[in-house]
Amino acid sequence: MNVSKLRTPKSILMPVVSFFSALLLTVNVHAAAEKDAVEAVEQGAYLVKIGDCVACHTEVGGQEFAGGLPFDTPFGIVYSTNITSDKETGIGNYSYDDFYDVMHNGVAPKGNLYPAMPYTSYHGLSDEDTKALYAYFMQVKPVNKENKELGISFPFNIRMGLKGWNLLNNKDEHFKPNPTKSERWNRGDYLVNVLGHCGECHTPRNVVFAMEQDKHFEGEVLGSFEAPNITPEELNRQNWTHDDLTNLFVNGYSRKGTVFGGMYPVVYHSYSKLTEEDLRSVSTYLLDNDDDIKAKALTNKGHDKALPGYKTYMAYCAGCHGQEGSGVPNVTPAMAGNATIDRKSPYNVASILLNGIEGQHYKVTSSFYAMPSYATELNDEEMKDLINYLRVTWSEQAGDMTTLDMSTIRENMKVDLH
Ligand code: HEC
Ligand code: HEC
Ligand code: HEC
Repeated sequence: MNVSKLRTPKSILMPVVSFFSALLLTVNVHAAAEKDAVEAVEQGAYLVKIGDCVACHTEVGGQEFAGGLPFDTPFGIVYSTNITSDKETGIGNYSYDDFYDVMHNGVAPKGNLYPAMPYTSYHGLSDEDTKALYAYFMQVKPVNKENKELGISFPFNIRMGLKGWNLLNNKDEHFKPNPTKSERWNRGDYLVNVLGHCGECHTPRNVVFAMEQDKHFEGEVLGSFEAPNITPEELNRQNWTHDDLTNLFVNGYSRKGTVFGGMYPVVYHSYSKLTEEDLRSVSTYLLDNDDDIKAKALTNKGHDKALPGYKTYMAYCAGCHGQEGSGVPNVTPAMAGNATIDRKSPYNVASILLNGIEGQHYKVTSSFYAMPSYATELNDEEMKDLINYLRVTWSEQAGDMTTLDMSTIRENMKVDLH
């Protein structure tokens, strides 16, 4: 018997078997990859909400993610761009590396991006989250819409110039957990500072428009409203609890008041979509406290009828906010213990009295009427007296606003409205 002949069938069989097992393996890998891809898109959809991409990348009345919303920056007007999967006008031709470079380095295929795109916050994204976001955007419905020309004049219209800015003010550093804090606190830090980019409004900026990290969350005036100090010191001083913050982010109001101005879209589009566990992580980070916090009674020092603001409050405000400043749940916020009143700077209260607040809707069960403007009814002295009244009656602040403070704010607002 020829030994070599016997061997032949076996040696032919071997590769055949391994071919089939390899085939089976590829089928499995494909199925797993498909499952991973579906999961990545789902994860991406959640991250997109927390990162609030839609609020900036959608023009008023425009199609989702098709861009065109103007941003007034110190460099001039910058427009958000089309980030749908359209290959011609959107980002459909982006490779993963292109996308990574935008999110972490502020560099797009067309050049360096203006920091109106918050890559100085997003640069902390994990690789997994960056991949999930990419997977999500590659399947967003394409919208063919040309990007708008920049409203920026020389020399700021040269994207090369931004390279220096990026080198100085942006580092591609992934988020680093703080080992002395809990896992929950660290998750909150990531949600707030990386995806939530809360510092873009709440952290003061220096002369070149970069966030001053040594003043993290200490507050900044943005046009007609101040994004207030939201450091743990200040939020704890105001006696916010985990529930108060959760209510604020889910419903737009809590017993400490409502959100308005630039904070409304943050809640409406983004933070109201967080899972319960993530909301608790956010409040754990913001309050720098893992434990439950007991709510203290809302500040109410009682009326001092001798003060000039008393009559004004009763005549103009008590009808809606209540004689005792207790508000009406789901209709008007309480004045007692209101976080907007209990702030060193009276800027936001003055702004509300001058400009009012537009009606705000959250969901079927919660929406607020508009708050009217009193710019023509009340003069600077009456407004100052009224604000001081709110401060001494329902907050820990002194009634130290002057008529000059009030008229300065009124003048600045006028400039702002032009
Ligand atoms: C605060 C507003 C703001 C938010 C929030 C925001 N963007 Fe942007 N984004 C911009 C602006 C403005 C530009 C254009 C900047 C420029 O032209 O230099 C931009 C540019 C981009 C680009 C570059 C597109 C191109 O034309 O090459 C991508 C990609 C992008 N954003 C993705 C995202 C994603 C993903 C998110 C959410 C995780 C997001 N953006 C959230 C304002 C924003
Ligand atoms: C027609 C009812 C109405 C009247 C009158 C009214 N307010 Fe309001 N006020 C509201 C509503 C509603 C809000 C919340 C608006 C929102 O956030 O959507 C509000 C918000 C406020 C806020 C911001 C606090 C927060 O948590 O939102 C202050 C401060 C305030 N009002 C003070 C006053 C003062 C002072 C007067 C009298 C000059 C007054 N309001 C008169 C309805 C009213
Ligand atoms: C576009 C600018 C902007 C961004 C981004 C922003 N905020 Fe605000 N925030 C404001 C303004 C303006 C106010 C003051 C109006 C108000 O009280 O709602 C405010 C108020 C607040 C308050 C106090 C609310 C109250 O009732 O006193 C908290 C807490 C807060 N922001 C947390 C956050 C967190 C957390 C994020 C990130 C998810 C964030 N903000 C992102 C502009 C912003």
